Amino acid sequence: MSRLEVRPFAADDIPAAAELLAQRHRRHRQAQPLLSPRYEHASAAEEAVRAAAEAEHASGAVALRGGALVGYLIGSPKTSYTWGENMWVEAAGQAADEPEAMRELYALAADRWVAEGRKAHYVLTPADDVDLVRAWFRVGFGQQHAHGLRALPRPGELAAPKVSIRRAERADIPVLAELDIALPEHQARTPVFSAARPPTLQESLGEWGEDFDDPDFTTFVAVHDGEVIGSAVGCALEKSGSHTTLARPENAGFLGFAAVLPHARGLGAGRTLGEAVLAWAAETGYASVVTDWRVTNLLSSRAWPALGFQESFVRLHRLVGY
Ligand SMILES: CC(C)(COP(=O)(O)OP(=O)(O)OC[C@H]1O[C@@H](n2cnc3c(N)ncnc32)[C@H](O)[C@@H]1OP(=O)(O)O)[C@@H](O)C(=O)NCCC(=O)NCCS
Repeated sequence: MSRLEVRPFAADDIPAAAELLAQRHRRHRQAQPLLSPRYEHASAAEEAVRAAAEAEHASGAVALRGGALVGYLIGSPKTSYTWGENMWVEAAGQAADEPEAMRELYALAADRWVAEGRKAHYVLTPADDVDLVRAWFRVGFGQQHAHGLRALPRPGELAAPKVSIRRAERADIPVLAELDIALPEHQARTPVFSAARPPTLQESLGEWGEDFDDPDFTTFVAVHDGEVIGSAVGCALEKSGSHTTLARPENAGFLGFAAVLPHARGLGAGRTLGEAVLAWAAETGYASVVTDWRVTNLLSSRAWPALGFQESFVRLHRLVGY
């Protein structure tokens, strides 16, 4: 077999990279048929690869064997401080015929990323591609996050609510603001250690005051012993910047937020709120439902799989240096 050759990604590589991405997506859809069929075609895959390659400060690598492209990798930075000095490989940013080639691709691409000072690396990878995930593990990555996908609930599937649920009202804004802070506060602690800064109560109240009537978001609250103890928000998946291209199933509803006040966790309110969003997605005419969670969040990483969400993409993370 001829030797593997690795060199920086160039614009001319886009069509061949798109073929590899379309193949990867066809394999992915065998495990996850709810993902969009669109990217099984090289034309749609090419649009996604081109966007990845043309993003600001994008760079990457290609692997060739006998002159044929067998793998590619493209990353670009996000500006939010939450991610540190970073490079992100999004859903269209990698594919390989030979998973082992991904280690060579990373070695070349990361040399430049680290030299540029971008030491926090994030890679969105198909969850079922065990060999590719293992290749990433063997260049120092671990799982940070999961994207979950599920079909609409079947008739009779949803359990009887364990707490009562209703649509949020303006009078709920003080507790909705408190619940918005409960999630980042929980995730700032061990073992998540998220860098996201919780908003102040004042900021959260202000946002709810402005956004409460936004028709693009549907908010439910859970009530127990006459007190609102939790909330969940449903919206179109397009509202989320974290689920793009191949990671954005067509016409999907999104469980975009859920939190239960600390003293009321474990009573079944999270399940009931999640199921309210599933029922809402079915009534609204969505074809599937997506959510995502930090895998180090011991609460959500149990609650959402228990609700039937299966991992579709995993976000892997490596921080270079001490
Ligand atoms: C995640 C959260 C909304 C879940 O709400 P909750 O009321 O605590 O959850 P529930 O009591 O409904 O439990 C949900 C499921 O998780 C399962 N679960 C809970 N604790 C578990 C544990 N220790 N081990 C295994 N499964 C567990 C429950 O069994 C339940 O599944 P089941 O109904 O099939 O039995 C809530 O814990 C929370 O607010 N956490 C902090 C904020 C957060 O993480 N929000 C989600 C961000 S993605």
